[in-house]
Order: sequence, then C-alpha cells, then structure tokens
Amino acid sequence: MTQDEMKKEAGWAALKYVEAGSIVGVGTGSTVKHFIDALGTMKDDIKGAVSSSVDSTEKLKALGIEVFDCNEVDKLDVYVDGADEINPAKEMIKGGGAALTREKIVAAISEKFICIVDGTKAVDVMGEFPLPVEVIPMARSYVGRELVKLGGDPAYREGVTTDNGNIIIDVYGLKITNPKQLEDQINSLAGVVTVGLFAHRGADVVITGTPNGAKIEE
Ligand code: 5RP
Repeated sequence: MTQDEMKKEAGWAALKYVEAGSIVGVGTGSTVKHFIDALGTMKDDIKGAVSSSVDSTEKLKALGIEVFDCNEVDKLDVYVDGADEINPAKEMIKGGGAALTREKIVAAISEKFICIVDGTKAVDVMGEFPLPVEVIPMARSYVGRELVKLGGDPAYREGVTTDNGNIIIDVYGLKITNPKQLEDQINSLAGVVTVGLFAHRGADVVITGTPNGAKIEE
C-alpha cells in the first residue's frame, strides 16, 4: 500500500466522528484532501465547514460544502487535520503546508481534535521534521537569531507567503523534549505569529492509516 493510500484510509475513517447537522472544522494537506472527499458524501447531512486555508476552502466549495467564516461560529464539535509529526502524548508538529496559524485558530474553537496521519508521522521525540514558524516579514532576521539561541538551525522557506501574508521559517536540528515549554518560548518572540507546535492543544484522537486499515487511538 502506498503512503497516499494510507492517508486515504485515515481520512475516510475520520468520517465516523462527523455528526449530522454539524459544522465541521477542516484542516489542510494531502491527508485532509481525502477527508474532504469523504465529507463530500455527507454534504447534504451537515451544515457546512470552517476551513483552515484558502486551499481547503476551494476544495470544500468545489464539492458544494458551505464554508463558514470562523467568526460566525462559537465552537465546533470536531476538527479534522493532519500532522507532520506526532508523539505518544498526541502533541504535534504542523505547518508543513504553511497553514499553521489558521489551523491553530480552528483547533482552538473545537471540542475534539481528530488527527489523521499515515504511520510515517509517529515519532517518540519531535524535531526530525523542521519546525515551521509563521513570522511577520520585518521580524525575519531577529526571530532567526533568537531561534539559534534556542538551539535551532533556522531556514527561510523560499517563495512561500502564508494565507495571512507572512513568511515561514523552518527550524532544523531541534530535539523537542519539552514541547509545551518550547511552544511558549517561540510564541513569546516579538514578530512570531504562531509556532507549529501543537502541544498545549494536542490531538484527542489519532487515526493512523495502515495497510491493515485505520487504527484509532482515543
Ligand atoms: C499543513 C499541515 C498539515 O496537516 C501537515 O503538513 C500534514 O500534511 P499532509 O497530510 O500533506 O502530510 O500542518 O499546514
């Protein structure tokens, strides 16, 4: 089974968490793309979605699913999104697709975070995947120097502007043994919009696509 087929297993398995009549939080990425396809089969049973990116919004609308502005919605029952790395405590690195800030906002208003991944995303200690940080453009050099002080090796993600008009710095070489502390440290730097560590708000359910079907950990 290919990696994409395993992503598809996870994406379709998440459908069982979607309640009829609800508004669903929808993340971003190639695994979420499969979830959006699955959600399309329920489009007449749900009210709609709140989306975490322009890309997902376009995919949802193309399937005829109404997309609500996040400010119109107080809370969501479920948020379904992928991850770049996830540890046994269900803490994640996200932002490989540069959508981390909107993902964190939608996750924050959601009761349950359903993380959909293939098996390659599971790690004991996060940091092998470079940690994305969304930064206001004028703070790029300052934030880069501060990230070096925190033990990282920052790299400007060339050619990428986020949906919010900012840049992404990817931090290599970190061994993230205290994700909550590092999330706080990086988020407190002037000019940082969001760090792609989802430790304070981790996942509640992890669905891993495997050659033997979807494995669910609640
Ligand atoms: C986008 C994300 C994605 O969830 C993450 O990059 C995983 O993507 P994929 O499902 O394509 O492997 O955080 O900002």
